[in-house]
Amino acid sequence: MPKKTHADLGDLTGKKVLVRVDFNVPLDKKTGAVKNDRRIRAALPTVQKLLDAGAAVIAMSHLGRPEKATPEERANLTMDRVAARFGELLGKPVRKAGNNVVGPEVATAVAALQPGEVLLLENLRFDPREQKNDPEFAAAVAALGDAYVNDAFGTCHNDKDASMVAVPATLKAAGKPRGVGLLVAKELEIIDGLLSHASRPFLSVMGGAKVSDKIAFINTLLAKVDHLLIGGKMAYAFLQAIGVNTGGTRVAAEEVEAAKKLVPYVGSKITLPVDCLCAKSDDLSQTQVFEGPIDAGYEGVDIGPKTCALFGEKIAAARTVIWNGPVGWFEQTAFSEGTRSIAQAMADSPAVTVVGGGETAEAVEQFGFDHGMTHVSTGGGAFLAYVEGKKFHSLAQIDDQ
Ligand code: 3PG
Repeated sequence: MPKKTHADLGDLTGKKVLVRVDFNVPLDKKTGAVKNDRRIRAALPTVQKLLDAGAAVIAMSHLGRPEKATPEERANLTMDRVAARFGELLGKPVRKAGNNVVGPEVATAVAALQPGEVLLLENLRFDPREQKNDPEFAAAVAALGDAYVNDAFGTCHNDKDASMVAVPATLKAAGKPRGVGLLVAKELEIIDGLLSHASRPFLSVMGGAKVSDKIAFINTLLAKVDHLLIGGKMAYAFLQAIGVNTGGTRVAAEEVEAAKKLVPYVGSKITLPVDCLCAKSDDLSQTQVFEGPIDAGYEGVDIGPKTCALFGEKIAAARTVIWNGPVGWFEQTAFSEGTRSIAQAMADSPAVTVVGGGETAEAVEQFGFDHGMTHVSTGGGAFLAYVEGKKFHSLAQIDDQ
């Protein structure tokens, strides 16, 4: 059953709407500048709809992990630059009220907020109570708004974040309206549709580093898909698990153990790379393609050309493709061809193509294929968790339609 949306909040004229967005965007390590504004752009339609309906918007998000940051890193995690970029994209100034998430300065700024205006709260994680579902903190945030919208798909799996769970729960207890935004509604609709009635053949491409992190996700997919193609660092764990020498490629023992559990599927549902692009560990500019065992002193950095062709053929024959995890070290141009070729094969295909967020979404954008996909999720961990079938406490705070 779909969730209530921003459109079910009643008359919003003159109302103040709390909108939880996921503006946890990548920042330049040195300057703190916003490196990729995709998540900000993804939230604009909902914010605009609320403003058009006569509301004022109080947007809120976390940014990074300030609790683990050095003082200099923490200084870069203020929402100032995000607010500036948000304002540019929205075409109107976005205010910020001081350096505290809640408190008198914020309450005064919110009281002065007029219909059509937008205020962005300070980084929610600057207040340690945010990640503890703290009831007092939740009450202080909830008191700022007349209604609540969750448009933060990327954070929906965080059950302890007050802004995701305790704040809407407080508003619920007070009888105030809550809904999901356009982005969350779209993410849920697409992923639900993918899992319940995908056109076949249904294919998945998996990459990234750790089998152990994604084992539940892979098991869920194995029950749904016709075929699973494996690349990236995790492919070497599988190769070791079936007894192939992977040379100097570093693979943790627990990764090989996790891969061993899936070995019965290799050759039937699971296809591993048939060749690998490898680089000399002491001189990455020296590369060689290996089919079968990899020489000592070389490490795998990408799928090889035969694998690109094989995976490309399988993608072209599929009617639904879901992809999570780069298949090589795509940040290095010399090792990016595998990931680029998967992105191109998916973009060229008439199939329903869905890319699970995080690094994979970054790669697809970097290669300019994002517009060729049916959907590029804004969720990294949330995408994996939702596909695995986890129930999110955040969404439980929003009534069904
Ligand atoms: C994400 O980027 O996956 C979300 O914004 C959640 O961030 P977190 O992993 O720091 O909770």
